[in-house]
This record gives sequence, structure tokens and C-alpha cells, in this order.
Amino acid sequence: MTETRKKVFIKTYGCQMNVYDSERMGDVLAGLGYGVTETADEADLVILNTCHIREKAAEKVYSELGRYREQKRARARDGKPLVIGVAGCVAQAEGEEIVRRAPMVDLVFGPQTYHRLPHLLTRFAEQGRPVVETDFPAEDKFDHMPTTPHAGGRRAVTAFLTVQEGCDKFCTFCVVPYTRGAEASRPVRKIIEDARRMVDQGVREITLLGQNINAYRGEAPDGRRWSLGRLINELSAIEGLARLRYTTSHPRDMDDELIAAHRDNPKLMPYLHLPVQSGSDAVLKAMNRRHTAASYLEIIGKIRAGRPDIALSSDFIVGFPGETERDFEATMALVEAVGYASAFSFKYSPRPGTPAAEMDNQVPEPVKAERLTRLQALLNSQNRAFLASCVGREMDILIEKPGRKAGQLAGRSPYLQAVHVEDAHHSIGDMVRVCIDSVGGSSLSAHIIPSGADSPVHAKATA
Ligand code: SAH
Ligand code: SF4
Ligand code: F3S
Repeated sequence: MTETRKKVFIKTYGCQMNVYDSERMGDVLAGLGYGVTETADEADLVILNTCHIREKAAEKVYSELGRYREQKRARARDGKPLVIGVAGCVAQAEGEEIVRRAPMVDLVFGPQTYHRLPHLLTRFAEQGRPVVETDFPAEDKFDHMPTTPHAGGRRAVTAFLTVQEGCDKFCTFCVVPYTRGAEASRPVRKIIEDARRMVDQGVREITLLGQNINAYRGEAPDGRRWSLGRLINELSAIEGLARLRYTTSHPRDMDDELIAAHRDNPKLMPYLHLPVQSGSDAVLKAMNRRHTAASYLEIIGKIRAGRPDIALSSDFIVGFPGETERDFEATMALVEAVGYASAFSFKYSPRPGTPAAEMDNQVPEPVKAERLTRLQALLNSQNRAFLASCVGREMDILIEKPGRKAGQLAGRSPYLQAVHVEDAHHSIGDMVRVCIDSVGGSSLSAHIIPSGADSPVHAKATA
């Protein structure tokens, strides 16, 4: 039976919102009889869910498309057509241009149109010409798409849940406001329903997603608009849900309710990705970030006052137009002042249609490269220091999957680090108390702290 089912291969680039969207597309296509495959060779439909954030991201998509040219020709010769779709932010930004540059593409559809996928496929089958759909429809795509937690065939213990999309911030370097549209928050009731369903299916940790998630202002049952902090507190009442996380947030929207949730809500994990981009006020201004280095540090101070062990993470851009050596040093100083557990850093990449791409004081490539190396050396040393600081500490690990070796399980710490635990007695989905023994690369190794009936002391007493 299954051999006759059609197969879809979805390749995902970019941020977690794309990961979430790809899963939802898989669900929608399952309704049309498609099974998801991990091998492009056996696919009847290939979807590239693309990212436009930096130049290389879009170029990767075009070179990937080239790979399917031969496969598509061979399939056409055998009378079994291969349909190729480009979704995501490159689709939204480039639209028709994709079909011009890569004529083997049959479908181009933007992030807000995924619920229309069945209709788009039918249209393509009927008209036999490429279909390009990049509207921002008024309806919420997630209302028309099923939510099923995925873990590549395994029971999913952790899952993403999109609660907000789009961005109104218009940082001068960024394409997201153009590719994802205006900020829109999903209603509280729908999010709670989705979360409950996930927990019923075995999910224990939910990461709420939004481009600008702390700008969340969702319609609530009480007729008001709730903030993210309020939403998190409400979600944490769901029995069986052990952990909540959220990403990505903007310093401008880090309000007191959310900061208080970090202090008071034990289910909200002590990890915060709060991108700052630069430590120079002049650069922050040119980026239109609408905050200063000092106001960012003030927020960090408030969060740490309530939750001293919080692990902080950030994004940085080096070589933004006009960035001087002094500006860059201000970034290094900010990093020193904060002490990050982890971070992402990038060379500024001019994006067509964004204001910064038109600025005339672009920084030469070798300068960008040199600054990135210095920044990454500092961030890497902070990351190593953070990992090392965990050794000897006790923490709760949520077991997510089998470990690399037999007898090992793998999970995550509250601080989002991967942790390998020597243990054969627990199973996936368990929360275990461990003691961290050592650091291995970017992950930690730990042993279980025996408790209750498991404990050798107890065993001895009853023997
Ligand atoms: N909404 C999130 C970030 C989305 S993009 C936020 O506001 O923080 C993820 C990261 O990509 C950004 O934080 C930024 O560091 C980086 N980025 C975005 N546009 C870029 C560009 N043109 N060049 C280099 N890095 C960029
Ligand atoms: Fe891009 Fe800025 Fe919006 Fe983040 S806040 S998505 S960096 S425009
Ligand atoms: Fe990339 Fe679009 Fe996400 S540009 S980072 S996939 S919102």
C-alpha cells in the first residue's frame, strides 16, 4: 500500500519558524496522501523552504535547485513528473524571479500561503504552468493547518509552537518585515488548544515561536490583549507540560510582565535569546534598533536580578555600514559586560530593498572578516566558560532521545545545552536529576543522581 503513496521531500533553511512551517506543510500534504521522505531521490514533490536573511542563504537555494534539474528530466522521461516548489522567505522576496532564474520550479509560494498548498498543487496540475503565490491573505494559515508534533518518527518530547509572526521593527539591515509581513499574534485560545493537544500527544517542552515574540499581543478570552508573559503563565498551568521556552525576542519589547515570569514561573526555562546586534549606540541608531547599549544592559540587569542563573544568548552583526573600529570595540565591551552562554554572529550582508544596503559607507570584506574572527573568539571563550561552570552542578534534564552510545540517553539542560547521560533505566520524556561530570565539545556529560526508591541508600536500608 505505502509504495503507491506519493512522497514529499521538504528541505528547510533558516530559522525555527521555517522548521515549524515545514512540519505543518508535511501535515497538510499528508491529507492529500503524501508521505514525508528524507531522500530527495524518491520524492514526487520537492519543497525547498527557504531563508533570505543573508546573501549566502539565497544563493544556496539556487545551487540546490540545480541538483534537481537532471532528476526532473529523468522523471519526465519515465512519465512520473517531479514537482518542485520553493517556499519560504526567498519565495516571498523573489516571487516570479525564481521561475525566471530556475525554470524547473513549478510552485513559488510565500510563508503566509501554506494552508493553500492543496489548492496550489491542483492549480498547477490544471494549468501546467508555474504557479506563483505571494499574497498575504487575511486569514490565519495555522487555523487551516493541523498541529502534530514530529521527531522523525520518534515520539516528540519537545515541540515548536508559533504564536506570533511578522515584524514591524524594520531594522535597516533586515528582510524579515518584507518577507513575513506585519506583526500578527494568534489568539490565546487557539494557542492553548494547540499546546494541550501537543501535551496529550506526549510533548513535555514547548518552545513558543515568533519573529518578534515578545511583541505578542494576542486576543484573550477576557476580551483583552495579553502579553507574552501572561500567555506563558497561562500555558504553564497545563498539566503534563514541564517546560516552556520562547524565541526570538527584541530588547524593546522585554516588558516587566515577561521579566517577572522569568523570576516567578518555574516552568519558564532560564535561557533567553535577546539579540543586541551591536554594542555601539551610533551603529544601533543606524540599524534602527531603537535601544541603546545602556538600555540593553539595564534589561539584562533586571532579568538577572530575578533569575541570577539565566543563560543569555544573542545575535551580532559585524561590519554594518559605517561601523568603525571604535564601534566594534564597543560591541566587544558589551560582550565582556554581559557574559554570554552562547551566541550567533554574522558579517553584515547587504540585502536588496533594505535601507542599509543603500548606505554609502559599506565596510570592506576583509575588515568584516577580521572583526568576526575576533568577536567569535571572545564568544567561544565565553561559551566554553559557561559549559565549564556547569561541571559539578546538579540540574534537571529532559530526556529527548537515545544517546550516541548504547546505554546513553540524550537530553537538554534548563540552559538548552545538550547533555549525555549514562543510564539504562529511564526513558524518553522523563525528567531526571543529574550531576554534570564533564564538557565534551559543545555538550555536557552527566550521571543520574539516585533518588527515592532508586537510591542505593534506600536499597541498602530495605535489604
Ligand atoms: N527577529 C530576530 C532576528 C531575526 S534574523 C531579532 O530581531 O532579533 C536573525 C539574525 O540574523 C538577526 O538577529 C541578525 O543578527 C542576523 N541578520 C539579519 N539580517 C542580517 C543581514 N542583512 N546581515 C547579517 N546578519 C543579519
Ligand atoms: Fe529583523 Fe529587526 Fe524585525 Fe528582528 S526585529 S526580524 S532583526 S527587522
Ligand atoms: Fe530566514 Fe525568513 Fe526565518 S528570512 S531567518 S527563514 S523569517
